[in-house]
Amino acid sequence: MNTNKAVDLSKMEQVLEKYKNARGALIPVLQIVQAEYGYLPEPVIGLISERLHISIHEIVGTATFYAQFHLKPRGEHIIKVCCGTACHVKGAAKVLEKISEALEVSTGMTTKDNVFTLDEVACLGACSLAPAMMVDEDIHGKLAPDTVGNVIKEIRETGVSR
Ligand code: FES
Repeated sequence: MNTNKAVDLSKMEQVLEKYKNARGALIPVLQIVQAEYGYLPEPVIGLISERLHISIHEIVGTATFYAQFHLKPRGEHIIKVCCGTACHVKGAAKVLEKISEALEVSTGMTTKDNVFTLDEVACLGACSLAPAMMVDEDIHGKLAPDTVGNVIKEIRETGVSR
């Protein structure tokens, strides 16, 4: 996570002007911020609080309630390891452990180089491919703990997930 990187607040001025008197504007505004920055930067939360007259506490509470919002920067590639029942039975925990080792991060964290964010999900809807994970938009199925690191290696080398 690069917290020192300056956040360009000018992008939000127009948005907040548009929503300043709108009731129930918080969620749509947070969605715009998330789409613009990839997460909800602290300075932007402060600006929203000031302009929409909503406490930071309430904004953060709302943001943490919905899985679509993130308070920290996300990686270039999002890895979602399925830990649903079918995947669990087929050894998802071991797969997750190996990926976590390969990336040197725990679930919910982003690698130091901001390339990967590791998430755990309940079911990817690909149970016949268990154990499975999703990298960005691509499903990787029938994973094995011993070889799952190759997927990570390939993405690091090529920049794409296949
Ligand atoms: S339980 Fe893993 S894809 Fe459904």
